[in-house]
Amino acid sequence: MKKLIYFLLSLAMINSVHLRADEGMWIPLLLNNYTIADMQKNGLKLTADDIYSINKESIKDAIVIFGSGCTGELVSDQGLLLTNHHCGYEQIQNHSRIDNDYLTNGFWAMSKAEELPNPGLTVKFLVRIEDVTKQALNDIDNSMTQAERNKKIGENIQKLEEDAIKGTHYLASVRPFYYGNEYFLFVYEEFKDVRLVGAPPSSIGKFGGDTDNWMWPRHTGDFSVFRIYANKENKPADYSPVNVPYKPKKFLNVSMKGINEGDFTWVLGYPGGTEQYLTSDAIKLVSELRNPHKIKIRDKRLEIMNSYGDINDTIRIKYASKNARVSNSWKRWIGEINGLKRLDGINKKIEFEKEFTKWAENKPVYNGLLKEFSKNYNDIESYALAYDYWREAVNGIEIIDFAADFENLIEISENQFDSSLVLAEVTKLIKIASDFYKDYDIRVDKDVFKALLPMYFSGVSEDFYPSVYSIIQSEYNGDFTRYVEKLLRETVFNKPEKLDRLLSIFSSDRVGELKNDPVYVLFSSFSEVYKNKVSEKYIALSAKNDSLYNIYMNALREMQPQKKFYPDANFTMRVAYGKVKGYYPKDGVKYLHYTTLEGVIEKDNPAIYDYDIPNRLREIYKQSDYGVYAKDGTVPLCFIATNHTTGGNSGSPVLDANGSLIGLNFDRAWEGIASDMMYDPDFSRNVSLDIRYVLFIIDKYAGAKHLVDEMKVVR
Ligand code: ARG
Ligand code: ASP
Repeated sequence: MKKLIYFLLSLAMINSVHLRADEGMWIPLLLNNYTIADMQKNGLKLTADDIYSINKESIKDAIVIFGSGCTGELVSDQGLLLTNHHCGYEQIQNHSRIDNDYLTNGFWAMSKAEELPNPGLTVKFLVRIEDVTKQALNDIDNSMTQAERNKKIGENIQKLEEDAIKGTHYLASVRPFYYGNEYFLFVYEEFKDVRLVGAPPSSIGKFGGDTDNWMWPRHTGDFSVFRIYANKENKPADYSPVNVPYKPKKFLNVSMKGINEGDFTWVLGYPGGTEQYLTSDAIKLVSELRNPHKIKIRDKRLEIMNSYGDINDTIRIKYASKNARVSNSWKRWIGEINGLKRLDGINKKIEFEKEFTKWAENKPVYNGLLKEFSKNYNDIESYALAYDYWREAVNGIEIIDFAADFENLIEISENQFDSSLVLAEVTKLIKIASDFYKDYDIRVDKDVFKALLPMYFSGVSEDFYPSVYSIIQSEYNGDFTRYVEKLLRETVFNKPEKLDRLLSIFSSDRVGELKNDPVYVLFSSFSEVYKNKVSEKYIALSAKNDSLYNIYMNALREMQPQKKFYPDANFTMRVAYGKVKGYYPKDGVKYLHYTTLEGVIEKDNPAIYDYDIPNRLREIYKQSDYGVYAKDGTVPLCFIATNHTTGGNSGSPVLDANGSLIGLNFDRAWEGIASDMMYDPDFSRNVSLDIRYVLFIIDKYAGAKHLVDEMKVVR
């Protein structure tokens, strides 16, 4: 009897570690394999075919990969697209000047002629998905070494990708799922003429800034509007003034019906990466070692950037995008550590692993697997740290990162004399340099340099010290500040005109001027350490981990055959579903599932940059001029739900039971942020912008009602 109770208890525990209501990011192609039934049971009124089909138009045809890391959706038959403000941020910033600052003032094209092109920005539509596991693993057998195996799989994949798009203008990508236990092919159609149509001022689109980022309750109007253009045949084309608005196969209806707690919602988008099946050793490494170090380094960078941004508007604009990037992950890492602690993540995994070990005892393929993991994680520790310091501390110094761009030119110049190659590289660098200087301020970077350089040496083990260390010791008496000052006096990389002169008359015999530049010398001394002592080992040990996870994943599925396993996110299209729902962040406190314009007014404070709203919004509030967007005397703003989402899902449509657009996903709530590793039904919430606020801002604030009229609004 006791044994039975133990057994039942352990089963419950297994389930509680791995399977939770609302958890999961599902492959659209496989919805019919049980996910759709559960979605329908919870309220969905669509079939799997309505969501993903290759035989008829389906909702997937209205969804795009926006740029390189976000999602967007089509909302009109003229290629009108919605995504987040933070997804269009770089484009908005690129069009901004101090006297014409769209970040501060917003931007609205009042006609198509005023829409702004964005070289380099693309969107991709998903054409189809195919399970290619068999073909990808063709000719793989157990006698192969890991390297042989990877090589063969790589060849198989390449062939699959080539075959998939032969004779078309499509793109193809085959991606591993379940740590390489399965493979799927994705075919995309990419459009290259994507124009900026509208963006609210940052004081709306980024309201609350990094203070409120990753938090609930939230009042950020995080949206921007773009339009896809195509050639006359409705096919992708590079930017051209004669291109015309793209006619999509499908666009989303926009619903003004609003949301209630408990409503079914789902999200269709591109979650970037999760690690749901990590072992306890992995969780420990991330939350007790890697994250804390990375946080410490970014603390410093942010402190310096902010101290300048607070007193100097030019610097604030230059560093706006960088600052947001640096602070975003920094804050998430902090939240992850807290969440994993609260969940007692490490111990939960350890408990599960005890069960696993028992289960695996008489299975030779799986027995001892966890011991191997432990050993490997132990081996990887110092390399992982050196890797993080290289990325965060060394490359976090802008001028070093910039000098690194010249590596190729130096190599070409030294090793061959084909002057056309050199010329091509120089042309590329002139452009890189002009982009770099546009957003560079030497005062900020100098302070960052002085702070981060010594951090590297106190952070990593002496095995990873570069050769310059002894010079700093002997010639500068270990005084990093003096060393940095001298470097910055002598280098060419912070002297735009001088560098430009060098580049414009560059020939291979002048390579010494770059190669012996003191900043370049410092970079290459770090890079030598990274290449020779860190990266190879780190990559090898990570690959070893992956091969262990390949087996572990198999084992997990074998151990719990009745359980639905969803693959980790890998920036391929996924379906998440859940319910609109508040939560209890701490004892005695309940968070509602929605916020309203009232909260913006509560927070409004001209003295605090993140909370200083535009006067026009104050006016509208004073007059309660909300038109059809009013609800209970105010305007709905954000809402939360239990959809399992992650980075990359930003801009994803949040849909109702009929597939109409009710919100734009843009964030997650602080207490449940560890959901990339451990989803917690009590705390994990995706944060969305209510579509009614989007329409309200476009119409009432910006006076761009023609854009709302372009959409199909259902009431
Ligand atoms: N946390 C959200 C995401 O990961 C929003 C980031 C942009 N906002 C910001 N304040 N940095 O993308
Ligand atoms: N803000 C994220 C994004 O940009 C979404 C998230 O991490 O929840 O994709």
